[in-house]
Amino acid sequence: MAILVTGGAGFIGGNFVLDWIGHNDELLINLDKLTYAGNLQTLESIAHHQHHHFVQGDIGDTALVSRILLEHKPRAVINFAAESHVDRSIHGPGAFIETNVVGTFRLLESVRAYWLECTEEERNRFRFLHVSTDEVYGSLGPNDPAFREDHPYQPNSPYSASKAASDHLVRAWFHTYGFPVLTTNCSNNYGPYHFPEKLIPLVILHALEGKDLPVYGDGQQVRDWLYVKDHCSALRRVLEAGRIGETYNIGGWNEQANLEVVRMICGLLDELKPRSDGKSYADQIRFVRDRPGHDRRYAIDARKLEQELGWRPAETFASGLRKTVSWYLDHTDWVQGVSSGSYRQWLTSQYHA
Ligand code: NAD
Ligand code: DAU
Repeated sequence: MAILVTGGAGFIGGNFVLDWIGHNDELLINLDKLTYAGNLQTLESIAHHQHHHFVQGDIGDTALVSRILLEHKPRAVINFAAESHVDRSIHGPGAFIETNVVGTFRLLESVRAYWLECTEEERNRFRFLHVSTDEVYGSLGPNDPAFREDHPYQPNSPYSASKAASDHLVRAWFHTYGFPVLTTNCSNNYGPYHFPEKLIPLVILHALEGKDLPVYGDGQQVRDWLYVKDHCSALRRVLEAGRIGETYNIGGWNEQANLEVVRMICGLLDELKPRSDGKSYADQIRFVRDRPGHDRRYAIDARKLEQELGWRPAETFASGLRKTVSWYLDHTDWVQGVSSGSYRQWLTSQYHA
């Protein structure tokens, strides 16, 4: 038995792979292109694990994906691979269309061709789990109810539009071809191995380096934060027991304004690693130009997942954020690799030395 994970050297995919290897005796094939966001240092502890097989490659490479599928005959594919950063999508949307839309389409077609050749028993057991985002639903007003699974799609950034397109493709492959898909739409993740272009790791590292802590606009945009390990447990549960063709929202029941998140990080750092001048890290907060088209509020209603599959997050924001800040303070090698860019040489040094 095997599963194929795409994008498993990224933030969420990497956490998922580490947790999966810890929980299962099944071979996991990890297909990742290793863009700037892919980091094999995250997977250092399982680099030579017998159940982890890493392949550098693109989800849109049909020949490669077909070869992997025929060789390993996975019972499931979990698709994390994507361009994921909203600000980058504003500066250069092309890569988002290429991977998130065209790449997902090619992956669906490669996997469907493989699935069609499986025995009936294998076909019935097979699942394609597509990992998506709450950003496809657009932005909420302050008093709007949280996103449910039937909320209209109203993406506002090139990133969210490209993810929305991928969700539509996945949905259509189920309705048209009977291809056994599951889709999850999750809120903002945070935790270990998060690339420091995203708010939480960026603020932690900028604070420690004595740099400004950039808060876009008025800092009152609201996000619903979920500890990454909770996202991983929800995905395992959906893969195990989700109904095919269904969508499941995943969230932490934890809405926070950005400015409050930044202040909480500063408070934790003041306690765990006080500044040498005795002042608070909050002195480094600076309000900067807003993100164009910035969504004001996201909130996830995760009741379907709880009622159908019995999943709830284990961490509160206070416990998860404390773990996260401590993780960054304790993992100076990983941080140093990312800060210096040396993590990009990891493949060569680890596998081809
Ligand atoms: P990430 O940017 O940290 O990682 C993406 C990974 O995909 C990287 O390892 C990268 O090398 C790989 N990749 C990119 N293009 C590829 C391609 N063409 N072929 C193969 N691999 C490719 O992203 P993340 O934050 O871990 O997000 C993972 C998934 O979860 C994405 O689909 C994202 O849309 C979704 N998601 C993210 C969040 C969040 O808060 N980060 C929340 C909800 C959903
Ligand atoms: O909601 C799920 C999404 O969450 C995922 O689909 C995306 O892949 C993921 O990147 C994340 O998107 P956001 O745009 O919400 O995350 P980001 O960390 O970039 O920003 C969080 C909030 O903080 C957002 O309102 C913008 C703001 N921000 C961000 C940065 C990087 C700042 O105020 N300052 C910053 O420097």
